Amino acid sequence: MKIILCKNYYEVSLQAANIVAQQIKNKPQSVLGLPTGSTPLGLYKSLIKMNKENTLDFSGVITFNLDEYYPISRDNAQSYYYFMHDNLFNHININKQNVHILNGEATDPQEECTNYESAIEKAGGIDLQVLGIGQNGHIGFNEPGNTLKSTTNLTDLTPNTIDVNSRFFEKIEDVPKKSLTMGIGSIMKSKKIILLASGVEKANAISELLKGDITTANPSTLLNAHRDVTIIVDNAAMEG
Ligand code: PGA
Repeated sequence: MKIILCKNYYEVSLQAANIVAQQIKNKPQSVLGLPTGSTPLGLYKSLIKMNKENTLDFSGVITFNLDEYYPISRDNAQSYYYFMHDNLFNHININKQNVHILNGEATDPQEECTNYESAIEKAGGIDLQVLGIGQNGHIGFNEPGNTLKSTTNLTDLTPNTIDVNSRFFEKIEDVPKKSLTMGIGSIMKSKKIILLASGVEKANAISELLKGDITTANPSTLLNAHRDVTIIVDNAAMEG
């Protein structure tokens, strides 16, 4: 596992943007796995800037988002569908047919998960997976527990995640209780993974991850079993 230690959030975003840009330059048809949340916002701003300045071309890029609330409609401003279009896809020259986001309105969520897993396989697998990390160590919506799911699945959000994410909703009751998420196996199959973390709230989760032990109590620790992971953290997130 490689660690890039940054002074602050701005530097985390720039380092991540450089890695993503390099990936796309090396392979214009790259398959990217993308996260939502506050953490990737700076990365997405940098990628938009590169695209506007004509130094980065997204026309061949294929994307798969990590997760989506369930149930939620696409036009709900808190859906990850809305978030991704608002913060990235509407501002770059990506072919919208190459964008894949789990459907929070699917009538048969199990079928949605199976189809999503197949679509990733059909695209040739994920070349570069970008991850954030939850305060509780979740990656995607793979929450701490006795067991972890390997493939894309419908899952319950933990009270902690509902609480942390309620900051985006008018009231905590509005936070969906479930989500669709790529599984740990779907993530681990990615050829290369970068995980971004900024702020002292992430320090505990990062310190557990860097200890090197693997535990389902902190799903991010599974990354210790992957052979190409880079953790991009700022000083605050390394405080633990
Ligand atoms: P955040 O969320 O980027 O908003 O901190 C990360 C996550 O929950 O995975």
